[in-house]
Amino acid sequence: MRKVTKKELKSFKNKCIILGIESSCDETSVSIVLNGREVLSNIVSSQIDIHKKFGGVVPEVASRNHIMAINNVVDEAIKTAGIKKEDISAIAVTYGAGLIGALMVGVNYAKALSESLDIPLIAVNHIRGHIAANYIIDKKLKPPFYSLVVSGGHTALLEIKTYTKQKMLLTTLDDAIGETFDKVARVLKLSYPGGPNVERLAKNGKNMIALNYRDNKKDNFSYSGLKTAVLNYVNNMLNKKEEIVVADVAYTFQTLAIKQLLEKVIPIVKKSRSKTLVICGGVSANNYLKEEFKKSCEQNKIKLIVPPLNLCTDNAAMIASEGYFKLMNEKTAACADSDLVAVSSLPL
Ligand code: KG4
Ligand code: ZN
Repeated sequence: MRKVTKKELKSFKNKCIILGIESSCDETSVSIVLNGREVLSNIVSSQIDIHKKFGGVVPEVASRNHIMAINNVVDEAIKTAGIKKEDISAIAVTYGAGLIGALMVGVNYAKALSESLDIPLIAVNHIRGHIAANYIIDKKLKPPFYSLVVSGGHTALLEIKTYTKQKMLLTTLDDAIGETFDKVARVLKLSYPGGPNVERLAKNGKNMIALNYRDNKKDNFSYSGLKTAVLNYVNNMLNKKEEIVVADVAYTFQTLAIKQLLEKVIPIVKKSRSKTLVICGGVSANNYLKEEFKKSCEQNKIKLIVPPLNLCTDNAAMIASEGYFKLMNEKTAACADSDLVAVSSLPL
């Protein structure tokens, strides 16, 4: 794998076409992005229907399906973008965090493609990719700003200082918010994927004070107490053979889960100089979360950016965008070596 040359970097300032590859979980996605912000194609082949019958993602099944899909998804992304393989400036690939077998499919494909086209390869952290989705939405967005990451594996507030440097301000002491939505869905016997199903049911629910829960962790996020409160409530009702109004439980859980985010995030961003908040990760697809943050940010004069659904959930456009900003800022250091491997738990 070769490094980017000075001549290339100069020409990339005018035109840089990145092919992004994302395969960290159950979506095989390939995208072509121009100059970090313009999406020429973003193809997502989802395995949701395959994993639904198992009640969650089965890692081995996910890896096998990525292998079967990736070639076609790459071809479709290039065709839809209306470019030729030779037009691609560099490849960006998610190398962590995620399911190890699933990640390996994308990483190995990306290595082979960059080698055969003789172009640089950039290794991208999946969560940094979620944050970069906002560069696509707001063409003027540039650091410094604040980013709330709400996904299956993360609940974090970050101060994005530059395109390549950030500071973690808040994190979760236990479960991530998306993971909690999924666990609550399972307790309520809702099908996979849990988060969207909890949201759908919550629309017809009302507040149910019987949930015995108080958030007493001041400095960080914590979701295990809320999860346990739902679990205890459901078990108690089952023991007493009383009816559980699933919509009310979903409503109450969702309200408390989002309230915690608002209470901890808004005061920090409100005090900041940039007063700009971007929200990213799968849970930012939740409409109740978006509405509550919109209201609160308006009240507190904070600029809020939340990507549309197709850029909230896993996709390769965000990976290509992050790859671009990494390449343009870290230059030679952004390029991966031939010994690049997938990493299942990768810190930010
Ligand atoms: O970012 P993502 O696609 O994958 C990770 O990087 O983890 O996030 C997946 C998480 C899952 O836990 C899923 O249940 C949750 O995002 N999610 C939602 C919604 N859509 C997806 N949670 C709440 N409401 C939603 N509408
Ligand atoms: Zn994700």
